[in-house]
Amino acid sequence: MPRILDGAAIAAQIKKEVAEEVKHLAQSGVRPGLAAVLVGHVPASEIYVRSKVQTCAELGLYSDLITPPDSVTTEEMLDLVSALNSRDDIDGILIQLPLPKQVDAKVLLDAVSPAKDVDGFHPINAGRLQAGRPALAPCTPAGVIEVLRRNSIPISGQNAVVVGRSDIVGKPAAMLLLHQNATVTICHSKTRDLGALTRQADILVAAIGRPGFITPEMVKPGSTIIDVGINRIETREDFDRFFKGNEKREAAFLKRGSVIVGDVHPAAFELSSAYTPVPGGVGLLTIAMLMSNTVRAARMRRGLLENSGETVS
Ligand code: GUN
Repeated sequence: MPRILDGAAIAAQIKKEVAEEVKHLAQSGVRPGLAAVLVGHVPASEIYVRSKVQTCAELGLYSDLITPPDSVTTEEMLDLVSALNSRDDIDGILIQLPLPKQVDAKVLLDAVSPAKDVDGFHPINAGRLQAGRPALAPCTPAGVIEVLRRNSIPISGQNAVVVGRSDIVGKPAAMLLLHQNATVTICHSKTRDLGALTRQADILVAAIGRPGFITPEMVKPGSTIIDVGINRIETREDFDRFFKGNEKREAAFLKRGSVIVGDVHPAAFELSSAYTPVPGGVGLLTIAMLMSNTVRAARMRRGLLENSGETVS
């Protein structure tokens, strides 16, 4: 039976450590602060951001929720970001995506001070990460490393295959694994004979955004599978494809009309020695890592990192 890597338990551990660090910083009169910018009314974003703000309160961080209207312009958003860059009580700036069409997201994200870029989306942070310099790494890939590290799953010398090359997950996950001395392969939609490569993976990271894309024949028996995907299944046909005979999921599907499946087919997990479930895996770590990044940003901005020569965490 494979081991289930419990995202909730690890998120709780990280949050506890962040809360302790916040207490410690309070002794020097520092209270890390996060500005969460939520534009318009995207229901999923509202849920995420509410949860981010609530977690700040739980851990003792200051937070400021800013809610520009759906009609906001790029210029107005740039003015807001500029004001947040200058505020001393704000250590982290989170601009929840997606943004309305009229807002130029690239220009806006590039305007966030790299020192306050707790999402790790700024090209300066991507470059620092690549160069192995202290950086704010994107939260989900940082969570992937924490899951492996805190479950004592070796990374050094292992074959890690990352399926997906997004700037937010695939590329930074590959960089972080490389810094931990994995032999890293990045695969994507144009990769030839994908299965031949994924079958080499001691650690397989699935971040393609396609439901159940990784099937059993693509998995090396005994490997570790990290499933970053979050896909909603709404048809009976799709449900049966992934969960036929699973009574618990069937009950959830009938009750809500949908269920969540990752990028890995549930049957593929059975071949692994350990895997992150969906839901209940990596997704739960994203907010914990955002909190951790905010405290890290607060320390870095004040020159309080114990070891300023350290490589990316
Ligand atoms: N939208 C969905 N996930 C994220 C995230 O991690 N950060 C931001 N800023 N927006 C998101």
